[in-house]
Amino acid sequence: MSAVVACLPGDGIGPEVLEQAVRVLSALPVDVETVELPFGGAAIDEFGEPLPAETLDACRSATAVLLGAVGGPKWDGGAVRPEAGLLGLRQALDVYANLRPASQGDVDLIVVRELVGGLYFGARGTRGDGTVFDTCEYSPAQVERIVRRGFEIAGTRRGRLVSVDKANVLDTSRLWRRIATEVASDYPNVELRHALVDSFAMEVVQAPESIDVVVTENMFGDILSDIAAAVTGGLGLAASASLGDGGPGIFEPVHGSAPDIAGTGAADPAAMLRSLALMLEHALGRGDLAAAVVVAVDNALTTTPTPDLGGTATTREFGDAVLEAVSLSKEEPWARARS
Ligand code: NAD
Ligand code: IPM
Ligand code: MN
Repeated sequence: MSAVVACLPGDGIGPEVLEQAVRVLSALPVDVETVELPFGGAAIDEFGEPLPAETLDACRSATAVLLGAVGGPKWDGGAVRPEAGLLGLRQALDVYANLRPASQGDVDLIVVRELVGGLYFGARGTRGDGTVFDTCEYSPAQVERIVRRGFEIAGTRRGRLVSVDKANVLDTSRLWRRIATEVASDYPNVELRHALVDSFAMEVVQAPESIDVVVTENMFGDILSDIAAAVTGGLGLAASASLGDGGPGIFEPVHGSAPDIAGTGAADPAAMLRSLALMLEHALGRGDLAAAVVVAVDNALTTTPTPDLGGTATTREFGDAVLEAVSLSKEEPWARARS
């Protein structure tokens, strides 16, 4: 049976960059079927909800989910936001480990962001006096599973893990720090360091080359991963993989729907294409094809840069360059052996 990839274009530049990923995927020697589903603001417009049941069902039964981006000013102030669909999907698939690699030159780091807990999913509400509150909660089990993931990833890399928290202020961070310290004894080959999020944000800007793996809670990881993207070429390049314990993962760029450039052809599809590579590696077990896509994207960044990198190429022209490179690489032995 062939693998099924649920494709969720979403809004703004989401469909523009996802289209390039689907073109490239179709050119690869891998037995996959893609199915496109309504999601985000586009699904609100059509069905009144950002994550229709049909979309969620298809994602649950898919091998992997490939997702563009959601959101935009059109849906600001509405009863339901496109972003709620994204959070609902992450929660439903329990993809608690969000891997956000950032590399360029001497920098090669990865942020392992907890994705289904903390402020994003805690109790919230409004009190009689108009006060609005969001709360941050973490259970020990929730912390342990993501911290272990961080150790495991660090064990396959340079063996250095930084656990980032705000333990000088927050009880959830003190729980986080205690569990990270306890779990460390199971990973003697990994060196654990704790850092406070504010000074660590500075470190990401000033000395990113010294960082290997970062493990942190949901909101800190959201912010730190955009900073890490900024110091390694920008949001147009930053990919992510959201993984649970076995079910389908979600593969999506770190960036959003970029309403300021949507429809202009200026979106850089590199982040989306690198997310496709992460899907090939993690969901389809095709590290060989992932490597071919990564090489093709790296080359296109030099030969065919989009405006975010000072070039003039359009989204589709960048896609063409990657497509051409992977089509040529079909002649490579790995492709002939498999097809
Ligand atoms: P954004 O990431 O969409 O854009 C930030 C800046 O980066 C913009 O100037 C944009 O033009 C630029 N940029 C982003 N991706 C780019 C690309 N591929 N190529 C070239 N330039 C790129 O963040 P924002 O403007 O704060 O948010 C816009 C909307 O996207 C909001 O509704 C937000 O909630 C949503 N959002 C969605 C996701 C997601 O779907 N995973 C992620 C982040 C933000
Ligand atoms: C991201 C985005 C999302 C997040 C939003 C759109 C809900 O910023 O994937 O980084 O905060 O997780
Ligand atoms: Mn974000």
